[in-house]
Amino acid sequence: MSLRDRLSALIAAGGPISVAQYMTACLHDPDFGYYAMRPAIGETGDFITAPMVSQMFGELIGVWAAASWELMGRPAELRLIELGPGDGTLMGDILKTVRHAEGFLEAADVWLVETSPPLRALQADGLGERVRWAASLAEVPGGAPTILIANELLDCLPARQFVRTAIGWSEQVVGLDADGELAFGLTSTPAGALLPDAQPGQVFEQSAPQAALGAQLGARIAADGGAALLIDYGRAEPGFGDTLQALRRHEKVDPLDRPGEADLTVHADFPAVMAAARAEGVDAAILTQADFLARMGIGARAEALVRASPGRTGRIGRQLTRLIAADEMGELFKVCAIHSPGWTPPAFED
Ligand SMILES: C[S@@+](CC[C@H](N)C(=O)[O-])C[C@H]1O[C@@H](n2cnc3c(N)ncnc32)[C@H](O)[C@@H]1O
Repeated sequence: MSLRDRLSALIAAGGPISVAQYMTACLHDPDFGYYAMRPAIGETGDFITAPMVSQMFGELIGVWAAASWELMGRPAELRLIELGPGDGTLMGDILKTVRHAEGFLEAADVWLVETSPPLRALQADGLGERVRWAASLAEVPGGAPTILIANELLDCLPARQFVRTAIGWSEQVVGLDADGELAFGLTSTPAGALLPDAQPGQVFEQSAPQAALGAQLGARIAADGGAALLIDYGRAEPGFGDTLQALRRHEKVDPLDRPGEADLTVHADFPAVMAAARAEGVDAAILTQADFLARMGIGARAEALVRASPGRTGRIGRQLTRLIAADEMGELFKVCAIHSPGWTPPAFED
């Protein structure tokens, strides 16, 4: 039995499933899901993330967290939370950096929200005693201000896809073709969801879990104060497009090929996340990754690293390019801050 067999049997019995249901099964099925069974992050795995490109990324987020804590009035109790911490590299670099802010680590109660058992084990190896784990944000106690970081978490939260046809919107679903293979198709009945005007052929993605996370962060920060920093590839303005992508061994592969054996993502829908957060009474703002890192001082940090290790000049230059160049991660990746009203987190000042 494989996940493909299980999904085929499910579809044969109950009809096609939504793209969101397909993503959830591929990523989180307890027996066959990618994150449940075989997450492979890093050079030798399926994909690489910014904290693995360079220590500069996590260090500057650590500086952002410490400076946010100062601007919040140095609360004596703080929940420092990371959602979807991967192999723990980002939190490791954050913790190394914030220890330079006197009093921060004494105030911080550090939580990792992780659903993947193998990644939890990896995080425990790297971060040890300093952190605690939760399976969902709701499990992390409130009652103190929050500083929350999530890099490449929104893109794992599933989306439904709708396609505008000549007669209206239809939902894109995963069914079986004449040979019994998994295949995309469109529902024959019009989609009931409230969708924007569009031209025939355009694809609209809607992620209820992404919007729900925006609302959850908004409610938490409205109640307890603080800020969340969400970093991901995605759109800063509402828009159209099929962004479902599967990565295996750093190559794009067919999302229907070998379900559960590739990382499957959609673009973050930042406008929806920010709207859901604002509806809870908090503020939200967005920058490109290039602008965020430039404002946080990545140029000066790169120069300092080069001065300390002149032999690594070329390598540090390549890392900098990867993080901020417009044709690499600099423009596609966005950094969104959700924060309590009355102050502006570092880098987001006008
Ligand atoms: C693409 S990895 C990003 C890892 C890390 N943030 C980094 O930058 O290297 C996605 C992470 O989110 C976790 N994850 C996926 N879905 C999740 C969910 N619904 N709740 C919490 N964590 C989730 C995965 O297990 C993994 O740790």
